[in-house]
Amino acid sequence: MNTIADTVRPVALVTGASSGTGRDVAIALAEDGCDVGVLGRRTDALEATADRIRQLGRRACVLTADVRDEQAVAGALQVFLAWSGGRADVLVNAAGIPGPLGDPVGELQLGDFDAVMATNLRGPFLTMTHLLPVMCRQGNGRVINIGGTHGMRGRAGRASYATSKWALRGLTRSAALEVGAHGVTANVVAPGAIAVDRMRKRWAEQAEAEGVSEEEVLDRYVHAMGMALKRPNETSDVVATVRFLAGEGGRNITGQEIVVDGGVIV
Ligand SMILES: NC(=O)c1ccc[n+]([C@@H]2O[C@H](COP(=O)([O-])OP(=O)(O)OC[C@H]3O[C@@H](n4cnc5c(N)ncnc54)[C@H](OP(=O)(O)O)[C@@H]3O)[C@@H](O)[C@H]2O)c1
Repeated sequence: MNTIADTVRPVALVTGASSGTGRDVAIALAEDGCDVGVLGRRTDALEATADRIRQLGRRACVLTADVRDEQAVAGALQVFLAWSGGRADVLVNAAGIPGPLGDPVGELQLGDFDAVMATNLRGPFLTMTHLLPVMCRQGNGRVINIGGTHGMRGRAGRASYATSKWALRGLTRSAALEVGAHGVTANVVAPGAIAVDRMRKRWAEQAEAEGVSEEEVLDRYVHAMGMALKRPNETSDVVATVRFLAGEGGRNITGQEIVVDGGVIV
């Protein structure tokens, strides 16, 4: 099986590359030698990621699309494949939303449930539908779907999110069995909490509302979760695992879920 390093000019597509984990994954893959297509809805933020990639001497292609929209994804991937010369060596599906927090089933709105499923499950399904045949024809490829630990165990008030990430595991495992004979791998990286801007803002707001420090909010959070290592992820923790799966170390790993959560799911 070829690896990323064997391909003369490896090409990656990263969804959710306008912020957080997806942005940092896109930049890391460029550091590892990939030209990178960056997909999301916010063109300005994608351009900023693309600039970082170009500064590393790699090519970048900005693809503005909503992953919930079949036609938009099809159009974006047509542009991507024209730009890449028909190649796709790595696909990282990082676009995702948490959906409503705290709404129990019975109060959860159907529209919110559908939006989470469409973003976190339909989105990866659509990109995989377009790129797996390309990878199979090439005889190599790495699909890395960003799941979450809420897809490994239920969590009250997070039913839509947990359902979407749980289903993503089924999609990924099934695809892994289908494409393995063509040298293509498909895996899930399942992070626990990641200290992205969105999460830091939430912790800061909670600290202000309760009149305590952010450190205290975080401290309580890691204890409530029973987190062995007592620290949430930085994006770099998740990025390192994605890099591993995309690189030589991931050559013979497929259909797996790698939990990166500081030791909650133990
Ligand atoms: N943060 C955490 O604690 C945590 C924990 C476990 C798992 N995760 C998972 O990790 C992944 C990245 O999350 P994050 O927290 O690092 O990211 P984030 O900063 O919240 O960014 C989410 C990304 O998803 C994109 N996105 C959302 N809806 C989209 C849509 N409909 N179409 C296209 N792109 C869309 C956003 O881009 P646009 O706004 O430009 O569309 C953005 O780039 C997600 O799958 C998330 O579920 C996160």
